[in-house]
Amino acid sequence: MSSTSLTYLEGLARNYAVRAVMSDKEGNYADAVSYYRRAIEVLEKILQLYPDHSLNNIYKQWIGQYRRRISEIENMLGKVKLSATGGESTPQEDIDELFRVMDRTGVTFEDVADMEGIKEAIKEAIIYPSKRPDLFPLGWPKGILLFGPPGCGKTYIAAAVASEIDGYFISVDAAGIMSKWLGEAEKKVSKLFSKARELAKNGRPVVIFIDEVDSLFGTFDTEVGGEVRVRNQFLKEMDGIESKVNSKQLVFVVAATNKPWRLDEAFIRRFQKRIYVPLPPKETRMALLRMYFKSLKVDTSVDVEKLADMLEGYTSSDIVEIIAAAHMKTVRELFESGGGKGEPRPISMSDFIEVLKNRKPSVNKDMVKVYEMWFEKYKAL
Ligand SMILES: Nc1ncnc2c1ncn2[C@@H]1O[C@H](COP(=O)(O)OP(=O)(O)OP(=O)(O)O)[C@@H](O)[C@H]1O
Ligand SMILES: [Mg+2]
Repeated sequence: MSSTSLTYLEGLARNYAVRAVMSDKEGNYADAVSYYRRAIEVLEKILQLYPDHSLNNIYKQWIGQYRRRISEIENMLGKVKLSATGGESTPQEDIDELFRVMDRTGVTFEDVADMEGIKEAIKEAIIYPSKRPDLFPLGWPKGILLFGPPGCGKTYIAAAVASEIDGYFISVDAAGIMSKWLGEAEKKVSKLFSKARELAKNGRPVVIFIDEVDSLFGTFDTEVGGEVRVRNQFLKEMDGIESKVNSKQLVFVVAATNKPWRLDEAFIRRFQKRIYVPLPPKETRMALLRMYFKSLKVDTSVDVEKLADMLEGYTSSDIVEIIAAAHMKTVRELFESGGGKGEPRPISMSDFIEVLKNRKPSVNKDMVKVYEMWFEKYKAL
């Protein structure tokens, strides 16, 4: 297969997708479904023929979106048919894939290196009130916002919360909620909260986790003003949550963002607890190194404290990648000189020095200042 045929297939998929969306907008649902199907077919062909193509992740997302839209249309049409025959319509919920209810995520606080202050803040805001609401006569924050530069553990620590509460953890795909179809996003928001209230009736706490919450404020492609309606719906739902000692239902909303400046004040006010997840300080960098070194062989030239100093300014995710790159060097050598037999040599300090030569921190100092300024401004709102 030549890349010309890849280009051809991509053009074809785009063509079908455009026609699908246009038919959809015009209310020509039968055509829309048939074009969505064709677009999916072509995209799947691309995935199959070019498994290493760099855009494949995006194509997979598109396929997911088109499938979702097809089932939305089918449900909608099904409903119309039912009501036309006077039957009772019980449309199947097709929004559940936008949010997943999970018991555990596999990550616990134990797996989170250091970040003690942040863990403590989360325990006080969520874990303790969810276990013993009676100990919080003044109530607790119903909204907790985690913000900070990319790759520093916001999503990771939120995943750990799921394992620490004895309740339900609903993980929400904010970008999916805002999917541009039909502008039904505010309905999805209200369904999300009613699902949470329903689960909370069992007497167990429910944490709604909205990752990349700033995308709820993203620009709509097809509907002017859609963001405003979603946001207002969201604020209304947040206001409906009880956070007092006699609440019958325990619902917490945890949101994460690396673009806090996209949130407006009304929204920020609902998140009484704002937790800054900064670039990892030295303690955390050392803890990260120690944690990841447990499963690797590292020789005595590697001084954890010195290496942690060299890693100042790097994000946690940079650090994980740097360790992986240093390890990969030893694996590569094993294959190139030893034919891949035996064990790689231990990682040395000079491996790290070499890896660091070609790697800049992914967040720059000016960016860090912007987060700090934002925190300064909203800390005491
Ligand atoms: N304290 C930690 N202990 C162990 N691993 C960590 C820690 N913090 C971050 N990591 C690692 O770094 C990766 C990136 O962290 P994470 O995805 O949580 O960043 P984020 O703050 O959500 O970034 P973004 O704003 O881009 O979503 C994690 O998948 C995890 O492997
Ligand atoms: Mg994240």
